[in-house]
Amino acid sequence: MKQSELLNQKQKEHLWPNHLLYYSNPLPLDRGEDMYVWDVDGKKYLDFFAGILTTSVGHNNKRVNERIQEQLGKLIHSSTLYPNAVHIEFAEKLGQITPEGLDTFYFGASGTDADETAVLLAQVYTGNTEVIALRHGYSGKSQFAMSLTGQGVWRMGPPHVGYVRHAMTPYTYRALGNMDEDTFVQACLDDLQDVIATMTSGKLACMIMEPIQGVGGFITLPPKYMQGAAEIIRAHGGLIIIDEVQTGFGRTGTHWWGHQHCGITPDIMTMAKGIANGMPLSAVATTKEIAQSAVGKGLTISTFGGNPLACAAGVATIEEMMESYGPDRCAEIGAMLESGLKKLAEKYPIIGQIRGRGLMQGVELVIDRETKEPAAQLANGMLEESRKTGLLIGKGGMHGNTLRIAPPLIATKEHVEEALEKLDYAFSQVMEMDF
Ligand SMILES: Cc1ncc(COP(=O)(O)O)c(C=O)c1O
Repeated sequence: MKQSELLNQKQKEHLWPNHLLYYSNPLPLDRGEDMYVWDVDGKKYLDFFAGILTTSVGHNNKRVNERIQEQLGKLIHSSTLYPNAVHIEFAEKLGQITPEGLDTFYFGASGTDADETAVLLAQVYTGNTEVIALRHGYSGKSQFAMSLTGQGVWRMGPPHVGYVRHAMTPYTYRALGNMDEDTFVQACLDDLQDVIATMTSGKLACMIMEPIQGVGGFITLPPKYMQGAAEIIRAHGGLIIIDEVQTGFGRTGTHWWGHQHCGITPDIMTMAKGIANGMPLSAVATTKEIAQSAVGKGLTISTFGGNPLACAAGVATIEEMMESYGPDRCAEIGAMLESGLKKLAEKYPIIGQIRGRGLMQGVELVIDRETKEPAAQLANGMLEESRKTGLLIGKGGMHGNTLRIAPPLIATKEHVEEALEKLDYAFSQVMEMDF
């Protein structure tokens, strides 16, 4: 029996069956190095999904690993009850790249934790409870994070928190009535006003949004929408929380943060995934004034938040990015990826839209460009065929029909060329499918 078969069998025996696993025959990974990973049977793959946009500076990055090793010999755990040097060093380092004023941090262990904490802080600061989120958004797996999430398939369990209301997302590719972009953006802003007027008391704690909705299929929010929404929310007393869990750390190119393409300033920003190259760490950044508002309102600790090993990894990850793999480089390599994907779109009519920014490119697949009927089976086919060529990509979107292409930020021109070649071949195979 192959090692992969054995592991897949044991997975079934010991792990919850509702774990989402990619591929009809799941892929147990063994090791990684820079842009590549190997499965347990020894097959090599070019990784263009980076463990869900998380291995930001490459698998087994030498600098990150050395920093973890160094910390390993000192202190693995302290909890947030004790200040420790690496926790503080990481806060200082992060403060060098966060937007001006957002220089006070809470560290947690997951994106879910960060989003929950951010909303709680907004509620404490404003004294209001009600929250606006966007349809197609994703915030995580806790009961409250699922309440923020705007996709039915990710909202398992009993009815969710009633004080979260979801406004229409400016998913311009699927605009209502095929409206043009400007008209649809305005319609979404009108809808936001309407949601507030009809479903809330008018006094808001916050709105949370992702500059590019990751799990939603890289739906890229138009700057005009984000600006308009921020104005509306603030007029109702609410704060703006920007979820940079997927879009942060230069991935979108040119700027460190995805919202910086859109001309808005958040009051609170959350981040995770790429923050520490795969070590479990998340952060909430805000102003000193907003952070101060929670003092005296109740106690808070986090046992694993800001874990010393994760913070050590975070320091080295940001150093790597600042020195070698920053936003300008992401813009440059991302432009190559985007233009290559656009060439593939000329060749394959099942590509409905290419969207995203930098090294975060979505490819929405449709049965027919006119009807835009979502083609989930073709997206599955693309994952399977890419895997055969030795390429890992992701998928997402409400209909599961959008390919998510987001390599580690260390990807070079040659890696992009290799990925495009493999995608080209995978598309040619998928075009043979019966659809
Ligand atoms: C935008 C966004 N926010 C929050 C989360 C939740 O993060 P985690 O899975 O680390 O809890 C995710 C996870 O995919 C995400 O994409």
